[in-house]
Amino acid sequence: MSRVKKLKNDYGFFGIGILNNSDEINIGTLWRSAYLLGASFIFTVNKKHKHQGSDITKTWTRIPLYHFKTFDELKEHLPYSTRLVAIEMAEAAIPLSEFEHPDRAIYLLGNEISGLPSQILKECQSLIKLPGEYSLNVAVAGSIVMYDRNNKGSE
Ligand SMILES: C[S@@+](CC[C@H](N)C(=O)[O-])C[C@H]1O[C@@H](n2cnc3c(N)ncnc32)[C@H](O)[C@@H]1O
Repeated sequence: MSRVKKLKNDYGFFGIGILNNSDEINIGTLWRSAYLLGASFIFTVNKKHKHQGSDITKTWTRIPLYHFKTFDELKEHLPYSTRLVAIEMAEAAIPLSEFEHPDRAIYLLGNEISGLPSQILKECQSLIKLPGEYSLNVAVAGSIVMYDRNNKGSE
């Protein structure tokens, strides 16, 4: 059972991960937030995660850390009846403030330099964005989404 759900209702789950990450400090920060904000698992796509000191909770010792070689491999291994939610600044994206989090969700973040490719955005079931004219740090963006999920609860 996740840390936050121990305090709230124990229904549904979420995982969070990043495609082709380029900065290990960011990813360590993201994992630390993921653990504290109730993720059931974390993952990388297209790049293996090496240990990073910014993850002081050593999240990979507490919840599973999966590595998928490609986005297709991630899709093949999605848990049953679980929605893939892309987090990206895109015109078509739903503002986070209006988004109802699915009970079972996988949140996918993009690379620090290039973001999530448009082809991948099309293959996700939901696309959400945070406010702002410029992009946020990837770990900050992921942490805000997880915090929002905790505040609102899921569907
Ligand atoms: C630093 S951003 C990538 C910026 C990239 N240079 C671009 O302009 O597309 C890294 C990742 O953080 C997330 N992100 C940052 N700001 C965001 C925002 N305002 N809304 C949604 N996602 C955001 C996205 O997942 C994005 O792929």
